[in-house]
Formats: sequence, C-alpha cells, structure tokens
Amino acid sequence: MKCKVAWIVAFGCAASLVYGHGDVAPQAVDTTGLPEVGEEWLTENPYRAEAAGEDVWKAAVEIGASGYNQNCARCHGLEVVSGGLAPDLRFLEAEEYGDEWYVERFVEGYTQNGITKMPAFGDLLGQEAAWAIRTYIETRPDDEAMESVTPDLKALRDEMAGYVDDASAADADALIERLSGIAGDIETLSGAPIADSPAYRAAALIDGTPGGYRKAAEALTIGLSAAN
Ligand code: HEC
Repeated sequence: MKCKVAWIVAFGCAASLVYGHGDVAPQAVDTTGLPEVGEEWLTENPYRAEAAGEDVWKAAVEIGASGYNQNCARCHGLEVVSGGLAPDLRFLEAEEYGDEWYVERFVEGYTQNGITKMPAFGDLLGQEAAWAIRTYIETRPDDEAMESVTPDLKALRDEMAGYVDDASAADADALIERLSGIAGDIETLSGAPIADSPAYRAAALIDGTPGGYRKAAEALTIGLSAAN
C-alpha cells in the first residue's frame, strides 16, 4: 500500500511508515524484443551497443526507460536526476565494476536495521528488465552539457518545425550533421560512449520527409522540456 503524506496526517499509516517508501510492489516490465539472457545473473551489461549491436541497445534504452519510470524514479529521480532521496545512478561506471554493484543492489535491494530502504527487484522483474534499466540509466545525458546546447537545439527545432508542411527547402544531410555534432558534445556521466540525448534522437528521425522533420522537432521539444 502506498502511504501518502495526507493519509498519515488524517488516519495514521503505521505499517507503511515502518517500510518507508520501500513498500510499493514492483511493476513488471515487458521485455519483448530483447534477447534473452538466461537464468544466471551476469556481471556485465549484455545490451551495450558494442556487444549487442545498435538495434538491441536502442530497444533496451526504450524498455529500460519505462521500467525505470515505474520502479525506480520515485526514489532515484525522474530522468535519473536524483533529488537527494537515493544515490544519483548516472555516476555508476558503465563497465563491469559498476555493473556488478548495480546488479547486486537490483537483486538484493537494501535493508538497514530491518528497514527496507530499497526493495529487491531481481526475482520479480528478471534479468532482461534489470539490464534494460541499466542501459537506460547509463545513457542519460549530462544535464549541464544539455543546458549549454539548449539554445542551439531550440533554433534547430524551430527550423525543422518550418519543414513540417513543405520540406523542399530543407537540407537533410546538413541538419543531421549539425544534430550529430551537438550529440557528440553531450557526454554521459557514466562513461558510456553514447548519450541518449534529444539531439541524438532527433538526428536519427530525420529522413528528408515532412513527417521526419515533425518527429525530430517533437523529439527536441520533449527532450528540452524534460531537461529543464
Ligand atoms: C524505495 C526507494 C528506492 C527504490 C524504489 C529504488 N531504490 Fe535504488 N536505492 C535506494 C537507496 C536508499 C539506495 C542507497 C542504499 C545504500 O546506502 O547503499 C539505493 C541504491 C541503489 C544503487 C546503488 C547506488 C550506489 O551509488 O551505490 C543502485 C544501483 C540502485 N539503487 C538501483 C535501483 C534501481 C535500478 C531501481 C529500480 C528498479 C531502484 N534502485 C529502486 C532506494 C530505492
């Protein structure tokens, strides 16, 4: 049961207070489309682009985003930016050392003096969900880097919004190059080689059609409002 502050004040909520906010049931994650990993827990993320290819990596980021938002965000923060309640997971190294630590916490959770500070997710969500969420976490863009490119991305967004009805004046290759250049300047805090930034997403959506520009402009709008 989830215990809202208002309920504590009005009715008391002893059981939930004991468990803090570790008492919300984990939400299953649909991992359809990701390669199965097997029973035994790995110690290294199998969905990195270097190991699994870019398509698997992209699917893992997508699935991991939803798994993260449902199960982790309330403690570790939206977009993995911690509000101080729990550690900021963006800094966990994207290599075996960080992965081992990640998977231990994911599987075991964390209990201190009999109080569940973080629930155990391993058995309930499974290994594919664990590594998808890991992939999402480690590919978050550095928010300071995002801030410094926001004016450029807004200008590109506005330019592309002008091609939504008629793309004849647009230069797709030049736009992709500019967005990719900006994407290349946005790093992760984990050391993962590619940041899943709005610039990266927008560049991948441009296909020279008005619909592609609309999607790319939308990806920038969504990404920039999330970053601010
Ligand atoms: C109820 C709050 C809560 C939820 C929900 C939660 N965590 Fe945690 N998590 C914590 C706390 C508190 C810690 C710090 C524990 C400690 O002191 O080591 C932590 C620590 C961690 C760590 C170790 C970080 C470090 O830098 O040492 C990882 C990794 C982690 N959590 C991943 C996750 C993932 C992935 C999810 C979602 C599947 C999740 N957590 C959901 C509260 C939570």
